[in-house]
Amino acid sequence: MSSCTDRIEAARQELVAALDASTVDLMAHRPAESTLVGLRDDMLARLADVRGRGAFYASIGTGRGRGPLVELIDGSVKWDMITGIGVHGFGHGDPELTAIAIEAASQDTVMQGNLQCNSEPIRFAETLRAAARRGGADMAHCYPACSGAMANENALKVCMQARNGAPRVLAFCDNFIGRTVTLSHIGDSPGHRQGVPKSIEVDYLPYWDPADPSRSSSDALNAMNAALASYPGQHACLVIELVQGEGGFTPGPREFFEPLLVAARGASVPIWFDEIQTFGRTDQMFRFEGLDLGSFADIITVGKMTQGCAAMWRAEFNPKPGLLSGTFLGSTAAMACGARIIERLAAGDAYGPTGRHAQLFQQFETRSAKLVESAPHCFPIIEGRRGPLAPWGGTGGMMRLTPFGGQKDRIVSLVHRLFDAGVIAFFCGHDPYHLRFLPPVGVLQPSQLDAVMDIVDDQVIAEGQEG
Ligand SMILES: Cc1ncc(COP(=O)(O)O)c(C=O)c1O
Repeated sequence: MSSCTDRIEAARQELVAALDASTVDLMAHRPAESTLVGLRDDMLARLADVRGRGAFYASIGTGRGRGPLVELIDGSVKWDMITGIGVHGFGHGDPELTAIAIEAASQDTVMQGNLQCNSEPIRFAETLRAAARRGGADMAHCYPACSGAMANENALKVCMQARNGAPRVLAFCDNFIGRTVTLSHIGDSPGHRQGVPKSIEVDYLPYWDPADPSRSSSDALNAMNAALASYPGQHACLVIELVQGEGGFTPGPREFFEPLLVAARGASVPIWFDEIQTFGRTDQMFRFEGLDLGSFADIITVGKMTQGCAAMWRAEFNPKPGLLSGTFLGSTAAMACGARIIERLAAGDAYGPTGRHAQLFQQFETRSAKLVESAPHCFPIIEGRRGPLAPWGGTGGMMRLTPFGGQKDRIVSLVHRLFDAGVIAFFCGHDPYHLRFLPPVGVLQPSQLDAVMDIVDDQVIAEGQEG
């Protein structure tokens, strides 16, 4: 038995070392190889055929990557500045996570379930709960799920049951929360709920607007008080993205949220922080931690960078048996790697005012400011609802740049240009739209961010010349 264990461990170490050595050629971006373009196009056609919708861009990987660089099937190597929409926080081919995934793959089952599981989901949930508690949130329980949307569905049901079936939700304009039937109606994007029957009542509050802080605060509080007065006792929860993700990378400050949270508490409305996009990548592990708002949290949901997703709640919210279950908790590898990612984030130099996330964001700001100064014609002033919008924004590993007045077609064109030039990015927001980065904050080096921003400079200017 012990000799088998030794052999497995030696083989695992050997495999990780060999895999790591096999990607040393991935040190910079490079263009597609003409001999592989046909293979790529064939794969894209197959994707469109089988899924019923084509790809946004040709980002189909070979399975090889190194840090922030990923190899695609056309032989190109690109800087991955979107990381599966915020999932691969430690980039590609991380040796430690590879070792953990191999260990997970050598176990008896691929998936972990609610009825039967091994120890990984327990360790994942304990690690997450401990992190939330360290951040100041009194979370009693943590319940894994296979997607952010499923974690959010669980959170919503927990809130509703705790409020005896209250049918309404307080949410913010421009929020995004997931794509189930109900969540599509809480999220504030008409395209996401097209043709989907309404299944929940939502009272929307205006979000933080840096162009007029005091007005946006009073507008939000007035809207909330009006909704609470109109529908007393009928709100299951107030759900908040403390930095809006899909909505446009707007980081609201503590002063904006606190009065709303106090009002929610006063009306016994459960407070739910949706940290699915923010988790791990801002100035603290949780955004509520950075804003010192943990004591208000009744429910928290996480996903993306955690690999496994989960909902956490205070003791008094623990639901009755029957409310939550499902076949899967997550894959063995996702649970094991997720736990280690949380530990690594906690132990490393990511956080605080001079942590690596803050430094990366500062570098992004410096480079963005230089670009705006050198190409002002690409950055016309954008008049928001309450005043002009800054041409760049975000926080930590949530970065946005807003050239061309935030026009959708120009931003999408820029994203495609960047892709062809070696940077995988995406967009967020709606009117205005923004160029959006969710970089691999755990591994991206300052020199690499500079290399990316050199390409961004060139492509913004090129797009500006064409428009
Ligand atoms: C804030 C927020 N909530 C929920 C979700 C839904 O997560 P998933 O796409 O894993 O279902 C997302 C995904 O982008 C998100 O950003």
